[in-house]
Amino acid sequence: MEKTVQPLLEEFQLGDLRLKNRMVMASLTRARANNAGLVPTPLMARYYAQRAQAGLLLSEGTWVSAKAIGFINVPGIYTQEQIEGWKLVTKAVHDKGGLIFLQLGHIGAASHPDFFDGELPAGPSAINPKTHSYTPQGFKETVTPRAFTIADIKQTVLEFKQAAQNAKEAGFDGVEVHAQAGMLIPQFLSLATNHRTDAYGGSIENRARIVFEILDAVMEVWNSTRVAIKFTPVAYSHVGIVTPDEETIPMFQYILKKLNDYNLAYLHIVGPAESLTGTPVEALQHNYFSHFRNHYTGRLMANLGFTQESGNAILKEGTADLVSFGSAFVANPDLPMRFKYHLPLSEMDRDTLYSGDENGYTDYPEAKI
Ligand SMILES: Cc1cc2nc3c(=O)[nH]c(=O)nc-3n(C[C@H](O)[C@H](O)[C@H](O)COP(=O)(O)O)c2cc1C
Repeated sequence: MEKTVQPLLEEFQLGDLRLKNRMVMASLTRARANNAGLVPTPLMARYYAQRAQAGLLLSEGTWVSAKAIGFINVPGIYTQEQIEGWKLVTKAVHDKGGLIFLQLGHIGAASHPDFFDGELPAGPSAINPKTHSYTPQGFKETVTPRAFTIADIKQTVLEFKQAAQNAKEAGFDGVEVHAQAGMLIPQFLSLATNHRTDAYGGSIENRARIVFEILDAVMEVWNSTRVAIKFTPVAYSHVGIVTPDEETIPMFQYILKKLNDYNLAYLHIVGPAESLTGTPVEALQHNYFSHFRNHYTGRLMANLGFTQESGNAILKEGTADLVSFGSAFVANPDLPMRFKYHLPLSEMDRDTLYSGDENGYTDYPEAKI
């Protein structure tokens, strides 16, 4: 079929990295590290390599430490065994001409004592985030966590730094800090889950402090243009009480203003999954990504619900520099090629998203041209 010019398929300069297109595979937790050490497996290497047509791949959210865990069979990057496992993944992707960043994750209070031999998980304050944790015994309600001490916060920042160092050793091309709704960082940003009265609570500046401490620590290991961060400013589903509040908009204005000095690889912003009418972030309802574009001078990656058409459109109008696709990459390992030749897309099977083997993981075929 005939080729058409599509911005999604254009090359892109990301710092010192040359991306072969502007399509990014967003992080997808697939729970295939089904071994006691949460070590990436050869099957995972195959899965990522199958998707190496993307200009950039983002790994699934990966635990920075054993204390960061809160979902079954998700890999870590805090043991030598895990680093060795990830080397299989990065090599397989590089052998196919792809680039891959590791997503550095910590779930904070949204975990469960089942992961810690009955000990409580920890978060900014002793407040139950009222969400669910996928434990080895299935989905369980979260509990009231222990509040981080200042020493815990300092330790957590060091864990992000060490994990970033480990990602380098494992052969990744960069790292993305996972600050999506539901994770530790948004729990600090949120008025609902952060009631601290020290330097990490109260004002916008204090609640956002951990974002910059983590980025500063990670940038001691990586050049800034190999470091990114992903936020979901407007999430409502599956995030319990960490939903937008009346300080969300000024909070992000503050964060973006500071990030303008960071020269990051990119800022990854997830859009709204539902109408924002009647919410504290209603002002973002229209021209959502333009709000972030107007406050952020660096490279912007847009996410959520993009199609071939809307992805090309947002790049063409210049509101974003890169577009990430999540679910479309599950069932379409060759998504860029399908866009290039306008081939139909396969549907993903929800039942095998988090199941333990190759079914619904590495058995989605490439399209026939
Ligand atoms: C099965 C599944 C697992 C996901 N795991 C992660 C994750 O580990 N880290 C993350 O930042 N986002 C995760 N997401 C969100 C996606 O990265 C993306 O933001 C979301 O799917 C919206 O993009 P889409 O509309 O193109 O699918 C996940 C989404 C799905 C469907």
